[in-house]
Amino acid sequence: MLFDSLEPLPADSILGLMTAFREDTSSDKVDLSVGVYREASGETPVMRAVKRAEAEIISEQTTKAYVAPIGVDGFRASMARLVLGGDAERLKPRIASLQTTGGCAALRVASGIYRRAVKDGEAWVSTPTWSNHFGLLCGAGLSIRRYPYYDPECHVLNIDRMLDSLRKAPKRSLVVLQVDCHNPSGADPSETDWHAILEVAKERALLPLFDLAYQGMGRSLDSDVAPIRLAAERLGEFMVSVSASKNFGLYRERTGALLAVTEHPSQVGTLESQMKDITRGMYSMSPSHGALIVERILTNAELENEWRQELDGMRLRLAYYRQRFKDALQALSPNLDLDWLVKQRGMFSLLGISQDDVERLRLERHIYMVGDSRINIAGLNDQNLERVAEAIVPLMK
Ligand code: LMR
Repeated sequence: MLFDSLEPLPADSILGLMTAFREDTSSDKVDLSVGVYREASGETPVMRAVKRAEAEIISEQTTKAYVAPIGVDGFRASMARLVLGGDAERLKPRIASLQTTGGCAALRVASGIYRRAVKDGEAWVSTPTWSNHFGLLCGAGLSIRRYPYYDPECHVLNIDRMLDSLRKAPKRSLVVLQVDCHNPSGADPSETDWHAILEVAKERALLPLFDLAYQGMGRSLDSDVAPIRLAAERLGEFMVSVSASKNFGLYRERTGALLAVTEHPSQVGTLESQMKDITRGMYSMSPSHGALIVERILTNAELENEWRQELDGMRLRLAYYRQRFKDALQALSPNLDLDWLVKQRGMFSLLGISQDDVERLRLERHIYMVGDSRINIAGLNDQNLERVAEAIVPLMK
């Protein structure tokens, strides 16, 4: 039979854990694996502003006819404003944008655009990086190179090694730069680091593809995108893949955008036609529901205010549990240097324990994390924190 030639594949290194966790019948199980935000109860809430916007949209909506291949115009404009702030108006004639099916499709379409623009170009990603970068970039036919990023001994970014490597990248390479809350390490470049990174990008004519999946979950909505706004001052061309999964909690609605800033306004039409062509050949166009919700929130002062407050609450909870987790580990092992845990941002940190230990924690203690020992801080709460700390501390160096 024809399908006999196919081999079964192992489950995805992150999403496979979602299924394994659901099937685990232990009442003590703890999910620190997939990157979704959770509140104290362990639930991933629908944000209040989202609920309100959604209810209004549903009551007003009179058709489910297609919106447009490029997406919801108001959503695209709102996303450009959220990311580029005051620069959005100035840059408007130079921004090509597309509503996408989550941040994933934005990365995929961006890779396709790059491949069409630069034949035989290479895409550079950090070591380590989000595992799905490989699938998305290779899916567009790009060959992937790695630049060093994280120093696992000190749990920080090694900027010198990163810059050295990028200086050797062939001119016109695509460089994927996670903007904030680095996945999986939680270690972000400082402001000075960003200046240096963008300087190298300029010298080497590299094309930055900013991967923005956590705006507002690191320091603040504006501070988190400062590197992109700096690029808007310094560089003629760059792209941004934006996800509304985390900061709007719209995970399953698959809501995102691709922004491409070009040197010349005359290129915008060309770029958008290429974006639509790539999308058409994959899934024709993106679903509108999540985009309409985001558009409504960002064009209504009361809803936006409510959303901003909820997002602040999420960020504060993450910072608070980073501190609580550090304190709990420290109480059990006073000699461990754990300052890095509270210096890092966002949902993720790498504990630096072995894959075997990660596996044992899952099988014996029902504590789930990604194989590289990435934990999702949002999975910690008052009920499980002490138990997680006590299980992990003997494994940490
Ligand atoms: C994660 O890194 O866990 C999330 O971005 C979810 C995913 O799709 O991998």
